[in-house]
Parts: sequence; C-alpha cells; structure tokens
Amino acid sequence: MSTVKKVTDSIIYVGVNDHKIDLFEGQYDVPNGMAYNSYVILDDKIAVMDTVDINFTHEWLDNLAEALNGRQPDYLIVQHMEPDHSANIQNFVNTYPGAKIVGNSKTFTMMAQFFGHSFEDRQVVVENGGTLSLGKHQLTFVFAPMVHWPEVMVTYDSTDKVLFSADGFGKFGALDVEEEWACEARRYYFGIVGKYGAQVQKLLQAASTLDIQKICPLHGPILTENLGYYLDLYNTWSSYGIESDGIVIAYTSVYGNTKKAVELLAEKLKAKGCPKVVVNDLARVDMAEAVEDAFRYGKIVLATTTYNAGIFPWMREFIDHLTERNFSNKKVAFIENGTWAPMAHKVMKGMLEGCKNLVFAEPVVTIKSAMNDANKEQLEALADDLCQDYLARSPQTAKKNDMTALFRLGYGLYVVTCNDGKKDNGLIVNTVSQVSDNKIAVCINKRNYSCHVIEQSKELNVNCLSVDAPFDIFKRFGFQSGRTVDKFQGMETAKSDNGLPFLTQYINAVLSLKVENQVDLDSHIMFICSVTEARVTSDRATMTYTYYQENVKPKPQTEGKKGWVCKICGYIYEGEVLPDDFICPLCKHGAADFEKIK
Ligand code: FEO
Repeated sequence: MSTVKKVTDSIIYVGVNDHKIDLFEGQYDVPNGMAYNSYVILDDKIAVMDTVDINFTHEWLDNLAEALNGRQPDYLIVQHMEPDHSANIQNFVNTYPGAKIVGNSKTFTMMAQFFGHSFEDRQVVVENGGTLSLGKHQLTFVFAPMVHWPEVMVTYDSTDKVLFSADGFGKFGALDVEEEWACEARRYYFGIVGKYGAQVQKLLQAASTLDIQKICPLHGPILTENLGYYLDLYNTWSSYGIESDGIVIAYTSVYGNTKKAVELLAEKLKAKGCPKVVVNDLARVDMAEAVEDAFRYGKIVLATTTYNAGIFPWMREFIDHLTERNFSNKKVAFIENGTWAPMAHKVMKGMLEGCKNLVFAEPVVTIKSAMNDANKEQLEALADDLCQDYLARSPQTAKKNDMTALFRLGYGLYVVTCNDGKKDNGLIVNTVSQVSDNKIAVCINKRNYSCHVIEQSKELNVNCLSVDAPFDIFKRFGFQSGRTVDKFQGMETAKSDNGLPFLTQYINAVLSLKVENQVDLDSHIMFICSVTEARVTSDRATMTYTYYQENVKPKPQTEGKKGWVCKICGYIYEGEVLPDDFICPLCKHGAADFEKIK
C-alpha cells in the first residue's frame, strides 16, 4: 500500500515503513519497526529531501514517482549521510540523471567515503545559513553538527513554515503503528543523540527564532500540532533536566538477594509518597529503555553485586551507557552486595566520577550475601533520604518545625572589627545584609563582647572574607572572647579612615559603618548603619557559610565517638542527651548548631 501523503499542498511525504528490521543501528530493538522519512517539495523547481534505507529502494522510488506525477526532480537535498537516509543516492541519480545534489562540504566528503566518489558533476555546496529558491518555496539550511553526525543540517521552508529536522524529533516505530510519541522518541533521543545535548540546545536556540508550523523529521511522525510540547521535551532532554517526578531503581541480582533488597526499597519508597517507582532488572529489561528511564527521572538507585573484583557485567554496561551520554544533575543511591569483599559501591561511584552535578544519597547499603535487620534499617534511612522532598510536600508527613531549614538561608561570613577605647577587637558574623540603597544591617549576639563595644562606640568595620581565608582566621576571631584576649596579637592590619583595623589578607572588601539606629532582637542587636567608606581589596570570591562548611572547617573526628558535634567548629559533646541550653565552649554557638553523631 502506498505511503505517499500530503504534508502541505506542495510538500508530499514519500518515506517508507520498515517492519523487517531486527535491530536499528545494529543495537536498538524496534518492536514496532522503523520509518525512514523522505519528502518532495513541488514548486517551479522540485526538491527531494533525503533518501531511505537500502532495503527499500523500489518502494521509495515508486513513492517518489507517484508524488512527481511525471515531473523530474531538480535537487536531492542530503541533510544527513547516515546510510538509513543516504543509501539510495546513487539509485536516485541513476533514475533522475538531471538532478543536482545539495549538501555541505562535509556531506560530500562522507559521500566520497561511502560511495568512492561524491557526484562532483552535480554538487551544490551550501554554507551554514545558505538558501535555495524553488520558486515560491525559499529554503534555508542551518547546520546542526552532531545532531547526530558532524555533517547534519536541517532545512527551513519559510513559505510553508516547515522545519525539516533531520534526526531531530525522530522516534523509533513505523508510521503505520499507533503509539504514544514520547516513550519511543525519548528512547531514541537518549540512545542516539543523548551525548550531544549541547549541540541540540544550539539547534533549539536557532529554531526558536523561526516561525515553525510543522516539523518533518527523518524518523517518526510529522509533528503538526502543539509543537511547544515537543520543543519543551527536547529542551528538557538536551539540558539533562528532570522530566518526571520519581525514582528509578536499576539492579542486577545473581541469586535473588539483591533483588529482595530492591523490592523492599521500592515498597518503602511508595509508602513514603514517591509518585513513581520504576524498577529495571538490567539483565532482562531492554537496555535502551533502562537508559531512557535513568535520564527521565531525577533520582536513581544502582544495586548490584561484586563480581570478578568489579561489578556485575550488565551494571557495568549500563553505567557506561550513562557516562558516555553525559549523565548529570541526579541524586544517586547505591546498594551493594558481596559475600567476602564487597566493592561494588566503590566501583560504581568511581565510574560516575566524571559526571557533573551528582548528589549521592545516604546511607550506602552494603549487603553481605543476604539482607539482615541492619540492612533493613539502612534501606529505611535511604528511603527517607530519597523521599525527603516527597515527605516534605505532604501535610501528613512533613516535619513542620524543622529549624534546620534556617541553615538553608544563604550567608556570607565576615570579620566585624571595632575598638573599645583601649584595644582593637573583632568577631566572626554571618549576619550582614544590605537592607536599603544606603543602609547595612549587622546583627550581633549580645553575649559577644563586640556587641557591647559597638553599642558604645557606634562604629565598626565589616571585613568581607574571601574563599582563601584559612580555619585559623575563624579560630582567632570566632572561638575566643575579646574581653580576655587580644585577637589581633601578632597580626598585621591596616586602618580605615575611622581608625578601625581591617585585615590585610583573606578579604575581598572592607566597609566602614556608622551606627544610625539599633533594634533589640532578644538574643541579638541589629545595628542599622550607614556606609562611610567602602574599599575593594581583591577579586577573590566571597566566603559563604556553605563554602566554609564544605571546604574550610576541618572534618570533626567523630569516628568511634557517641554524642553530638558542633556544626560550626567541630566540638564534640559526648553524651546521649544534649541540654537545650548548651553553649559550645569553643565557638559559643547554641544547641541548635549541634547534630547527633551517626
Ligand atoms: Fe537516522 Fe542518524 O540516522
């Protein structure tokens, strides 16, 4: 049965459906076959857009003859040289010897490689942005290197507002099978173009400047309605964004023990409100389907066994598929199993080392042969970590008085300096904010000697710490009182015009402030100040509280200890219960800044 049909009054579809194929590109299972699309643009001049796979020469030439209805084509436009689209160029030329072949310089280089010659006598070589007029139809060629090969170009017909998108927006599946677009388009995208997100983003950017009413890809259906839906999905996929809420568990299991842990975790995730849990047994699921799921969801659990001092082969292959496609922006959890020397976690994490913006869930679950009670508890804790956002969304399960939420506010860290009339003093604060065009608020704990001093003197300097500030600066200004020690002893400083000191190292700016007003905030006083002087001293980045926690503060030595650790300075309180009014003897922060040692 002929597959020829109109796309617009002057654009005709002449592609073919392939139901004989077993594996597309030699690796992808295509249960619903494959379509190789080709189009004819009828105008004063006639252009044919690409050819089809070598097994469909006669079907395609028949379709072409039907669409041409006795006319002769003037051009064959070659957007992509992969053989599923280019294999019939020679047959086209034999049938229509008067036609020219339109491509770019890379197209013709590849043609010479595939066919031993590049049709030198009939080449029309186009540049990026080049145009071709067929009469009414004006075509513009936009190069799209690596979507999916380097020579790829797409073609925009500004007359009918049609984008011929080459492999872009393609999918697995023949056109005579009804199926949802996204599933097989996603599997196709991540399998074939997934590595080239940056190049797809570039193409989308170019496409966003065009008025597109129809997209004609080289595989899959012609897209005619609701184009925003397809463009949005392509934007999410190519930017490695999260398309769907949920968690995917990819696992291998030799004797079923790892599988049992996976099943228990899946149950727990569902019970904690995870909107979708996808479980893929990598030995049995279609690998391209598992890869597609890994990119679709924002969280993934990898569960496998130690095998030949590495990991089970299907998991190794799976992670290779992810890393070679720029796997990124995910939360990743691990379950490992090993009877004598479990090392699957180390191997899996090592394989993911080069991936950008991965966050690792806690704890890593280590099963020794078969799941025990401790493992079940670990799975519960892992489910809590993975479902943190789902639990917090629900009014039933959300912790509504979790004051650690306050730590998520972003802060810089500063040394505030002042003088009590006899000596200079300074302390660390994170509570400096610009509160209007010309006012700065600085909040200082009343327990700090500096608070008392500034109430009297009404003058202070704010030293903006930069990321090179060492832990010693925090010890010097944060963990001792200026009432009893000279915090500047042995330290070189400079003076601003108000006579107060500022640091000559480890800062990127210093602001001299004059107190205009003050507000009593119970534990703190807020000084509202005007700026009398402002100097920039370096271009290093500002030290934030998060940067300090992650890069400056030494890791507390909690191993083997029970009790509570101060998140500010690492002081360890050894005791089961931390008194509510406990004050850290080192940095003077309260109980809220302590966390239980796990
Ligand atoms: Fe459909 Fe990249 O060939």
